[in-house]
Amino acid sequence: MTALSAEHRTQVGIVGAGPAGLLLAHLLHGHGIESVVLELRSREYVEQRVRAGVLEHGTVQLLSEAGVGERMRREGLVHHGIELRFDGRGHRIDFPALTGGRSITVYGQQEVVKDLIRARLDAGGALHFEVQDVSVHDLDSDRPAIRYSHDGADHELRCDVIAGCDGFHGVCRPSVPDGALETHEREYPFAWLGILAEVAPSTEELIYARHERGFALHSMRTPELSRFYLQCEPDDDVDNWPDERIWDELRIRLEREGWELNADGPIIEKGITPMRSYVVEPMQYGSLFLAGDAAHIVPPTGAKGLNLAVGDVKVLADALSRWYATGDRAGLDAYSDSCLRRVWRAEHFSWWMTSMLHRFPHDDEGFEERLQRAQLDYVCRSRAAATTLAENYVGFAWDDG
Ligand code: FAD
Ligand code: DHB
Repeated sequence: MTALSAEHRTQVGIVGAGPAGLLLAHLLHGHGIESVVLELRSREYVEQRVRAGVLEHGTVQLLSEAGVGERMRREGLVHHGIELRFDGRGHRIDFPALTGGRSITVYGQQEVVKDLIRARLDAGGALHFEVQDVSVHDLDSDRPAIRYSHDGADHELRCDVIAGCDGFHGVCRPSVPDGALETHEREYPFAWLGILAEVAPSTEELIYARHERGFALHSMRTPELSRFYLQCEPDDDVDNWPDERIWDELRIRLEREGWELNADGPIIEKGITPMRSYVVEPMQYGSLFLAGDAAHIVPPTGAKGLNLAVGDVKVLADALSRWYATGDRAGLDAYSDSCLRRVWRAEHFSWWMTSMLHRFPHDDEGFEERLQRAQLDYVCRSRAAATTLAENYVGFAWDDG
């Protein structure tokens, strides 16, 4: 038996405590706007979930300005370039030289999440983990509601607006009536096996490698912790990837003369991520605003997913702040258009990086392969092409995306 329903009220009801939901709550707090964050999983779970690791220049700036960048600045690794590796050779893309001094920071998504949770709790914010049966109601009114159960009791939270920050598999997007949103989608005929290993990285900068056997990426988290990704089959299983096979495959795909992979340590995490491009338009329905993975997915090759989530909630927090301060809805009405410009730029970049670096099955006549080589050759020889890669990778200014 559940206890009697309790009714609550807040200004912004936020579903999901990933980077989007947590940062939105934090930014709103900075504007004096109250919110409640409802998360399906436990705090331990969201803090341990290994995902993205590359923060754009603007993301780093935003987190710093919002007062949640202290540990990131101390522990994050500032990178000034990446290496493209193919045919046993490496080519460096120099970010500051090509982008007027910009760079990226390698700092795990789960660390960003930990910092935001701490900031929320320190500020006395309402952040509830392990809520169940979340549903959203009255979206086409100006008093939408979130119903959920928590600690054995049913609750209803009345809000001015709801922010759907509940990721790709959340409940908010599917609650929008049929026909109100347009979906654009592409699936790729491969997936990524993500690997975390307790070994010192064998490189100072990230290596994106194209190889006949498939794509490989050497990334890192700390000077003692390496992060790798290997292209695998879309329906692959981690059980097909014993540690020895992973190290062998990384050695082959990342091979370069005079370079050696440090494999001297345990693999502590493995997981498979499907690859897809996905966008819904508009990113709003009535009083529901979708942000982050709830509205769009990119294949991870451009390291854009987390950064797009950050961009969305910055736009939303600014628009809500203007509305509460002046009653002017212009920012809210423009929310979707403002975000989608940046989203589609990132969709294109992520698709382009993915297409250039992965092995496509059924490329029997080698057409894709020759296009990839032509493109890689162009990026290596042309400053204009390298600049395209670099400026997209480090990210655009918030008002320039
Ligand atoms: P999420 O981080 O997904 O957060 C959504 C939150 O909502 C979650 O905490 C979830 O538990 C919660 N939730 C879901 N349903 C409900 C519900 N019904 N009620 C309440 N809460 C709910 N990007 C990269 O750039 N590089 C990578 O290597 C990379 N790896 C990834 C690996 C995986 C397995 C996944 C899923 C994504 C990866 N991404 C990667 C993408 C990147 O991590 C996301 O773009 C980023 O997490 C988006 O943040 P978000 O807050 O929008 O969504
Ligand atoms: C990482 C993930 C990415 O998708 C990427 O393009 C680069 C790095 C990472 O997890 O470190």
